[in-house]
Amino acid sequence: MDRDAFDSLMSSLDPPMVVVTAAAGGERAGCLVGFHAQSSIGPARYCLWLSQANRTHAVALRATHLGVHLLSQGDHRLAERFGAVSGDDVDKFAGLDVVDGPHGVPWLAAVPHRLAVRPVALIDDDGDHTGVVAEPVAAETAGRFRPLRLSDVDDVTAGHDADDPPHR
Ligand SMILES: Cc1cc2nc3c(=O)[nH]c(=O)nc-3n(C[C@H](O)[C@H](O)[C@H](O)COP(=O)(O)O)c2cc1C
Repeated sequence: MDRDAFDSLMSSLDPPMVVVTAAAGGERAGCLVGFHAQSSIGPARYCLWLSQANRTHAVALRATHLGVHLLSQGDHRLAERFGAVSGDDVDKFAGLDVVDGPHGVPWLAAVPHRLAVRPVALIDDDGDHTGVVAEPVAAETAGRFRPLRLSDVDDVTAGHDADDPPHR
């Protein structure tokens, strides 16, 4: 496989960015995610892929529900907050207005475009990310918006490399 061609194809897709949040056992976590998409129409399903190196991975696997925040142009600082540092080192939620969403998912008040989803299957195929297939249980939006895309955050370096030791 031509790895450069693969990387070029993926970056041309320029995916929209989301922040995935989770709460379990009194802990909160959240990270910036570019690997995600709708994956079924009837019933509705949403897939996202969490790096096993991330603290969010450990909390999300124990949570009954997850929050998915669809970032728009203007959310670069939020993307940086959730993507460039790890909850291992800082409280990413400090100073943010966080509300209790459906089933206790941490919902970021600053992001009006959001889902609450219930994981129904996990995919661990020896890759460095775990796939989460989820049922959307709630959706909110303030209307159409222009997504914050991968190309808008090319100055953000991930808080954890995908080959860091896993958080299980
Ligand atoms: C552009 C970009 C895209 C990312 N995409 C994903 C992703 O799809 N899945 C994931 O788990 N982490 C992804 N990350 C990495 C995490 O957001 C990052 O390592 C974060 O600091 C982890 O925080 P945590 O340890 O508190 O969970 C991405 C980071 C960046 C900068």
